[in-house]
Amino acid sequence: GNAVRVALLGCGTVGGEIVRLLREQAGELAARAGAPVELVGVAVRRPHKHPELGDLLTTDATALATREDVDVVVEVIGGIEPARTLLLEALKAGKSVVTANKALLAEEGAALAEAADASGVDLFYEASVAGAIPLLRPLRESLAGDRITRVAGIVNGTTNFILSAMTESGAGYADALEEATRLGYAEADPSADVDGYDAASKAAILATLAFHTRVTAADVHCEGIRHVTASDIAAARGIGCVIKLLAICERTPATPDTPESVSARVYPAMIPATHPLAAVDGAFNAVFVEAEAAGQLMFYGQGAGGAPTASAVLGDLVAVARNRVHGGRGARESAYARLPVLPIGAV
Ligand code: NDP
Ligand code: HSE
Repeated sequence: GNAVRVALLGCGTVGGEIVRLLREQAGELAARAGAPVELVGVAVRRPHKHPELGDLLTTDATALATREDVDVVVEVIGGIEPARTLLLEALKAGKSVVTANKALLAEEGAALAEAADASGVDLFYEASVAGAIPLLRPLRESLAGDRITRVAGIVNGTTNFILSAMTESGAGYADALEEATRLGYAEADPSADVDGYDAASKAAILATLAFHTRVTAADVHCEGIRHVTASDIAAARGIGCVIKLLAICERTPATPDTPESVSARVYPAMIPATHPLAAVDGAFNAVFVEAEAAGQLMFYGQGAGGAPTASAVLGDLVAVARNRVHGGRGARESAYARLPVLPIGAV
């Protein structure tokens, strides 16, 4: 029939919620997409952990990602390999791709975009930055006519959860991290969160889209929260401040002596308790965007967790399905693949 056929790679915290929502909302999604959105296979490592998926299960992700009857590959495995190879092969085989994998995009975004462009298919990754918050599409589409000068805020739910717990209830760092892991906020290796690399990947993706250039995770100055102590937090409170892990991306216009440049950095910062970012608690994220004509915009919502992230993935999936049904493609990734590389400025 005319169904849009979906292969799901990975079925953990996020993948499990994608399956649930695809099933619960099948009728509504079909109406919005213009065709049924049908899950035709799920690749995992340990099938015995997913008895409810029955015949859909496979451990051969490569075969599933390139299977002839698959239209869209949704990747929620995480990490660089095997996700990178799987997605490049899927794109080469003409599948559209939806992914939540910020680590991969921040390293290989340009190669993936090039592969999508070569096949004329979609590559969407709204869930990769700030969970449920619609942020990448606004940067890529709604603000495409403006000049963005700054993108800054809280983009990691795990560290915000830990810092909030340490600030509000005096929780210990290790206990708070354990709880963030239990709630499904943390990465498989939580050092990606606490050492700032996850936020740095997100900063690279944001800077790339906001400034129409190519920034990778290695270009981002990165400091995490591992060394933030209860006494640092108390000292901050003593001067009317809270500590938040911030990601800050800036574009510095050219001067007669220096070319235009961009910078991106992640570090724990003291901010006044009266600042709007100070009120962002738990696994919530908030991002301010400044553009020359628009002025300041604020994006706020749940930045981590299975269901919020699945919401963003499903939004992308409907967009891909609509394009499959009605023709057309999302914001031209080719532009991204061929973007000029601006100098990375001092931080
Ligand atoms: P999980 O660790 O919970 O799930 C990973 C899934 O991938 C598991 O189902 C696992 O299989 C499967 N898997 C691992 N290796 C392979 C492999 N080689 N072949 C096939 N399947 C494999 O991760 P999350 O759901 O938390 O995260 C997934 C992605 O989403 C990551 O990129 C993460 O950064 C991103 N993300 C996560 C958010 C969150 O809040 N959790 C928010 C935004 C993005 P098995 O079940 O058998 O172990
Ligand atoms: N580990 C990530 C976080 C998941 O805590 O923000 C959302 O990208």
